[in-house]
Amino acid sequence: MKDILQTLDDRRGAARMGGGAARVEAQHAKGKLTARERLELLLDEDSFEEFDMFVAHRCIDFGMEENRPYGDGVVTGWGTINGRMVYVFSQDFTVLGGSVSETHARKICKIMDMAVANGAPVIGLNDSGGARIQEGVDSLAGYGEIFQRNILASGVVPQISVIMGPCAGGAVYSPAMTDFIFMVKDSSYMFVTGPDVVKTVTNEQVTAEELGGATTHTRKSSVADGAFENDVEALAEVRRLVDLLPSSNREKSPVRPFFDAPGRIEPSLDTLVPDNPNTPYDMKELITKLADERDFYEIQEEFAKNMITGFIRLEGRTVGVVANQPMVLAGCLDIDSSRKAARFVRFCDCFEIPLLTLVDVPGFLPGTTQEYGGVIKHGAKLLFAYGEATVPKVTVITRKAYGGAYDVMASKHLRADFNYAWPTAEIAVMGAKGAAEIIHRADAGDPDKIAAHAKDYEDRFANPFVAAERGFIDEVIMPHSTRKRVSRAFASLRKKEVQRPWKKHDNIPL
Ligand code: HXC
Repeated sequence: MKDILQTLDDRRGAARMGGGAARVEAQHAKGKLTARERLELLLDEDSFEEFDMFVAHRCIDFGMEENRPYGDGVVTGWGTINGRMVYVFSQDFTVLGGSVSETHARKICKIMDMAVANGAPVIGLNDSGGARIQEGVDSLAGYGEIFQRNILASGVVPQISVIMGPCAGGAVYSPAMTDFIFMVKDSSYMFVTGPDVVKTVTNEQVTAEELGGATTHTRKSSVADGAFENDVEALAEVRRLVDLLPSSNREKSPVRPFFDAPGRIEPSLDTLVPDNPNTPYDMKELITKLADERDFYEIQEEFAKNMITGFIRLEGRTVGVVANQPMVLAGCLDIDSSRKAARFVRFCDCFEIPLLTLVDVPGFLPGTTQEYGGVIKHGAKLLFAYGEATVPKVTVITRKAYGGAYDVMASKHLRADFNYAWPTAEIAVMGAKGAAEIIHRADAGDPDKIAAHAKDYEDRFANPFVAAERGFIDEVIMPHSTRKRVSRAFASLRKKEVQRPWKKHDNIPL
């Protein structure tokens, strides 16, 4: 009996060795942790339960029958993050370069199926040379099975990808279909075709980092939602994110104890909006002053900075925040900011996370770049996302809410539940000067007359009261009481239910 136990212990030891000491050392030399070290950091201590530790591939081509390492290049199983269950896979680059074989893919599919059945998030730690070259189409079939599961799991359980090494070719499309992608700076990259192919086809010379590194994907392409200095930081941030999310679409986000009075008054907010309507101010100040313990978890911080997206908690409950940022491009809507916010709104809606929208928007960004780039369709994404969202929606207009952008930003007409405005709000078709120049074109040559008309327009429309008279604004509120008003609004909406006409699914303008 003792011998048998020893055999199991030996086998486990062999599996835990991964690709052996030399390859582990090489992994460390690149500043990367091993697959198992990463899981130790991601999960609560001693919570990891492994599946399929002894799975080995079945390939007999190219001498592969002589090389059948336990685990087949991926560690899979489940564990907990602050006590809540998550399913995980962690690709082991030290074993056959973490490449994806038929069996490797099957291990990932198994935990994805279990995650959906049991209602828990899937977290994938990606570090792989891609399709196992020796296996050919079996490997591609494996990827296809993972893709299909990503799609089925979308909107059912949160899916989070962390890119911690290579991720190239078709392999990028599994993370691309998950809800959030985090990358590690300098040691990870994602691209459909690598620098060599790019050079051959387009004659562009570019490094892997420039083409698909963390900075590129968080600033330029918006493929990734966050870039972190190293493995340790990235995994710690995943833990923070998971804490904010529900385990599945059948549950609400966890309620955390809070140590911040929901009725907290913030007198400093009464002077947040400057006297001059063209002077910017930092919308993040409002977000942090509203949040429990001033804690704001930002998503896509480095991309389309004219729009802020992220999570706060109010009375211990997660709330998704979408806010125009007057500090960047005056907070206008454009292609990038609309896409960014639309995806975030849809994430919140499918996981029942209420939405708080903070509005200071002068309109859509004009220009050929925007029009040729399809701002009509991209702007429509955000409009559509807000209009289809049935989660509790609370909107606060702090200053400008002009034109179509007023409608888009969770207006009453898109079925927001509470629409508040500060006394500094200006809800109009456009700014006063532009309006005066159009309505009084005959006076265009006379700056004094135009200024007088603009003043008239401003007096009439540059306030929240016209909209309040019509009930488009439910209440004009004191800035200092915003946290209290918004918290009470969300508290009143906890049992909100909305019936919509039956449809298979909608046809959001993609
Ligand atoms: C089999 C692979 C592998 C792969 C790496 N290895 N990638 N084995 N299939 N795809 C093995 C190597 O042979 C090596 O084995 C070990 O992993 C470590 O690789 P190195 O090359 O030594 O590491 P490094 O120098 O860090 O380079 C990493 C790399 C490189 C850039 C990822 O390995 C590489 O270019 N690999 C091939 C990438 C590729 O073309 N993949 C297929 C892409 S197509 P030993 O035994 O020497 O340690 C694809 C399509 C997916 O993925 C389609 C989905 C629909």
